Amino acid sequence: MSTQTPDNVPEINNWNRLLEGKVAVVTGGGAGIGKAICELFAEHGAHLEIAEIDPDRANETTETILSDGGHVSSHIVDVRNKNEVDDFKETVLARHGSIDILVNNVGDYRPLVRFLDSSPESWKEMYDINFHHLLLVTHAFLQSMIDGGGGSIINIHSVEGMRAYPSEPVYGALKAAANHFSTCLAAGYGRHGIRVNGIGVDLTQTPQVDYISGYEDVENLWESWAPVGRLGWPEDQARVALFLASDLSAYVTGHNIPVDGGSHVGGGWFFSPDEKRFVNRPKNL
Ligand SMILES: NC(=O)c1ccc[n+]([C@@H]2O[C@H](COP(=O)([O-])OP(=O)(O)OC[C@H]3O[C@@H](n4cnc5c(N)ncnc54)[C@H](O)[C@@H]3O)[C@@H](O)[C@H]2O)c1
Repeated sequence: MSTQTPDNVPEINNWNRLLEGKVAVVTGGGAGIGKAICELFAEHGAHLEIAEIDPDRANETTETILSDGGHVSSHIVDVRNKNEVDDFKETVLARHGSIDILVNNVGDYRPLVRFLDSSPESWKEMYDINFHHLLLVTHAFLQSMIDGGGGSIINIHSVEGMRAYPSEPVYGALKAAANHFSTCLAAGYGRHGIRVNGIGVDLTQTPQVDYISGYEDVENLWESWAPVGRLGWPEDQARVALFLASDLSAYVTGHNIPVDGGSHVGGGWFFSPDEKRFVNRPKNL
């Protein structure tokens, strides 16, 4: 008799508690997108284990989740450091045995060094903060996820890894590595119950990428800038991460979703307010 039946589709028992009882590790959960992911996952019943380098930020997320009645522990970890990642893993696995969700969120485009001014040292720095820790943290937790019956890995990267990033090709290439790592890992570990997907972020207001105070007098330009006509917020990213973490996406693996207000697909097209249409050739806009 075939084992391929609709019963293989997981039941969604409570749409308001999509991660009830799940253990989720989130890196860089103290601010920006990571913080929003932690808060939304906790609201949906997950127990958060946060790896964050900044104690004040770690504390802030922890306090918010606890005051909302959620479950969370935070750990001061520099995810670029293997010993610290190993200690973090030991503590988390001693507490829970295994984890269900891993969100590799840490990343930074700074310091932005033009390629001609860059050096092996600056390439290494970019590698450490945008890719090396994905390997370290995933390697630390993957076996326990398999042993625990499977789970979901979400790699937060950038649209700059999916289209060109003319300003900083090294950052763009390392985000592309995070993108493709997600695809390859998904193909390799799907049969072990592991799903892996990525999110290509763009245009999202965070402490790292401050679109509001960094750019004056552009309020009226958003409509012609991002295809959806507005700035993105960490909650926009967190909602997609929730989908990828939960059984709502049980049949989705190996994909990288641009969560960018359409900037990736809209690239190369510019809105001309005079003509009230998009143009793709030089024009005074
Ligand atoms: N905000 C955007 O528009 C945007 C665009 C493209 C890509 N991204 C990517 O999204 C992810 C999150 O970005 P964000 O804007 O929320 O960043 P953010 O800098 O605002 O927040 C990152 C968090 O990670 C923590 N962190 C930094 N280094 C760490 C380390 N070594 N170990 C542990 N924790 C560390 C920081 O203290 C902070 O709490 C990153 O991978 C970033 O490259 C963001």
